[in-house]
Amino acid sequence: MSAAKQGAVSKAVIPAAGLGTRFLPATKSQPKELLPIVDKPSIQYVVEEAVAAGITDVLVVIGPEKQAIQDHFSSDAELERHLEEQGKLDLLAEVRAVSNLADLHYVSQLEPLGLGHAVSMAREHVGDEPFAVMLADDLMIDDAVLLSRMLATQAEHGGAVLALMESTPEEISAYGCAAVEEIESTKSGMAGVMRVRGVVEKPKPADAPSNLAVIGRYVLPPEVFDALDRTTPGMGGEIQLTDAIGLLIDECPVHGVTFSEGRYDAGDKLDFLRANVELALDRDDLGPGLAEVLKSIVARRGL
Ligand code: UTP
Repeated sequence: MSAAKQGAVSKAVIPAAGLGTRFLPATKSQPKELLPIVDKPSIQYVVEEAVAAGITDVLVVIGPEKQAIQDHFSSDAELERHLEEQGKLDLLAEVRAVSNLADLHYVSQLEPLGLGHAVSMAREHVGDEPFAVMLADDLMIDDAVLLSRMLATQAEHGGAVLALMESTPEEISAYGCAAVEEIESTKSGMAGVMRVRGVVEKPKPADAPSNLAVIGRYVLPPEVFDALDRTTPGMGGEIQLTDAIGLLIDECPVHGVTFSEGRYDAGDKLDFLRANVELALDRDDLGPGLAEVLKSIVARRGL
């Protein structure tokens, strides 16, 4: 890995071409990435996180029926005129901010052949630079602290950087799992950085090499595209990003950054509901009212 390839992450890729089967029928005619958490689509939180970490060039991988994602981030003159006429200036500012949020690009994945395949669609746009991959159903509500730490780790060590979350044995079989080794220390003195020696996709609890799940933030070197070319369909007949990262481990440094707070799996129904409740409780306009509603529900049901 050449030094020139370190510390130069300017692009993020958001794969959003999956079928979202866990959220059917809501996802029959709309992408899961547009399901709102309170009043904002999950993909918008993720684009805002990229921007907060200093990445403004964002490529979204969309499926054949996913025009709605482009529409969400485009300006809508008629809606803006309507809001202006009604004097709803706060909403007008909010709607305009969405279309000015980042420099968004789109590429199609015509068939949902897996997360790895979706990432390979980004090859031309990304070029010969390291880049971030951010899953739009993984919400990180942490002021981009995790992503910023991952970018700093990539700048120091090069190669790839994974986000690692401590999980229970039951949880781990829903994720990729990392075999890790402690490292002496990083130049920056950052805690929670480990060397990754192996990754296994969705292991049985007894086969898991650690309690560290790989979650949906990655910083990857351009070499991952060649690794994806060499990756054959794995679990579920899909090209798995985890398998390509497994190949990278023999070729370049792969580090993991651990974290513990701020993450919601918005692709899972229970965690989707938790995200809605927690984020609404955090808001001045909704928090106090929702707290009362929750208390009365708990009391009435004797929970
Ligand atoms: P998931 O496995 O969580 O998404 O992929 P899914 O397949 O849409 O959801 P379920 O399991 O059927 O409910 C993680 C991310 O990768 C994208 C998805 O859109 C999601 O944001 N993805 C997945 C693609 O872009 N293409 C694929 O072929 C597969």
